[in-house]
Amino acid sequence: MSFDRSLKIAPSILSADFANFGAEIRAIEAQGADWVHVDVMDGHFVPNLTFGPPAVKAFRPHVKTVMDVHLMISPVDAYIDAYADAGADILTAHIEAGPHIHRTLQAIHAAGMKAGVALNPGTPAEAVADLLDMADLICVMTVNPGFGGQKFIDMTAKVAKLRAMIGDRAVHIEIDGGVDPVTAPLVRAAGADVLVAGSAVFKGGSVDKPEVYGANMQAIRAAAG
Ligand code: DX5
Ligand code: ZN
Repeated sequence: MSFDRSLKIAPSILSADFANFGAEIRAIEAQGADWVHVDVMDGHFVPNLTFGPPAVKAFRPHVKTVMDVHLMISPVDAYIDAYADAGADILTAHIEAGPHIHRTLQAIHAAGMKAGVALNPGTPAEAVADLLDMADLICVMTVNPGFGGQKFIDMTAKVAKLRAMIGDRAVHIEIDGGVDPVTAPLVRAAGADVLVAGSAVFKGGSVDKPEVYGANMQAIRAAAG
């Protein structure tokens, strides 16, 4: 994975057909997805439950781009090797998930993956100040995590602050939650390069109508500029 700040659309398969993940992943990639965003929820850190390492490992052969795994679980560290074995390219943990995010990032790197840190809406940009030399990605949540299809919470000022803090470091800024053609330009202008989108990509489409996924992604891309 080489680093650049070009715009990347990362559809969240949380909004895909859960009985058909392989075909859904192939469809979004064929329609131009840059990364595939995989939302892991544990029913404890967030009030919803999705899937774990065996399912993520089953997704892997279908992902030809980048498998971007967002852990909404606590604790994290005991599962890091399982997600490395599952084939995650990027593994993102929440800073709120435990007292030792620094150790978690070290362990993710030691397991051979890129390491991301996610911030809930209530967590300030400053919370990652001492992690910027070791993180590969900062995920700014623009909803309270747990569900797709929620209303965008404007975190534009936080994104701009992070962009300034990051400077020349090779650290992605990812936005997750409520991204659509209306909200995408706000966060892109503030300095984000990876836009996660679930409902706005999958709405109206299916594996039998994948061109709708393509049009939805194109609408976000065009609006974000
Ligand atoms: C929310 C997840 C998101 C979610 C985004 O907890 O982390 O990735 O799927 O869904 P939309 O784009 O529908 O807000
Ligand atoms: Zn996510």
